[in-house]
Amino acid sequence: MATPGVRPLIAGNWKMNGSTAEAAALAGAVAAGAGPGPDLLVCPPFPYLPGVAAALAGKPVAVGAQDCHAAAKGAHTGDVSAPMLKDVGATYVILGHSERRANHAETDAAVRAKTEAALAAGLTPIVCVGESEAERLAGEAEAVVTSQLDGSLPDGFAAAGGVVAYEPVWAIGTGRTPTEAEIAAVHATIRARLVARFGAAGGGLRILYGGSMKPSNAVAILALANVDGGLIGGASLVAADFLAIAQAAAAAPR
Ligand code: PGA
Repeated sequence: MATPGVRPLIAGNWKMNGSTAEAAALAGAVAAGAGPGPDLLVCPPFPYLPGVAAALAGKPVAVGAQDCHAAAKGAHTGDVSAPMLKDVGATYVILGHSERRANHAETDAAVRAKTEAALAAGLTPIVCVGESEAERLAGEAEAVVTSQLDGSLPDGFAAAGGVVAYEPVWAIGTGRTPTEAEIAAVHATIRARLVARFGAAGGGLRILYGGSMKPSNAVAILALANVDGGLIGGASLVAADFLAIAQAAAAAPR
């Protein structure tokens, strides 16, 4: 159930998938099926960003990236800066995804620096947090998520309308999800932390759920308090599935 007064966001994280033709086809199908309700966002790999942004210009689907560097420019071979993303038409950027944290050793401090860069460039950051399976089994999920929030979010986050995504690492790409009660509990913890840190503005920030969200579980998950949308991986690569999740968000009680 999206927070009262908050428009849900359904975001597709395409990860390292697709080709020029496939990205164009997927973006076109999402735009063609976009209905009223949630904000829609697709996050293609870097090379396809300009083409997808051009294809979606004037359409009700925003475009975002999956990472950015903390610096605006300079000697950082292979990296891409936030102003470059803005320049090619992105308006959002996913930061601190667990695959970045794991595969590229991104710390909370690194995520915070990238988030500051995104804000400085005028991009809306989607900052990901989430516990490992061992942490969940040890009863540490909420402590881990709280610590990641504290370390990853810069002071300007709420004023700029930043987005938080709760993505339990063990639920990503596995087909497994926490129970509805577990999701609701973590989202309530995140909301409380955002309000404690940012005051009233923290009460209106969007908190997405991510991790094996699909049409068959989206209705129940999106009905939970403080679930203001979803960050969708695998199911975002199939336009019909992504659009079905968007419809679930449109139909969720508000
Ligand atoms: P998944 O990925 O939907 O394939 O589990 C979600 C994510 O990693 O953002």
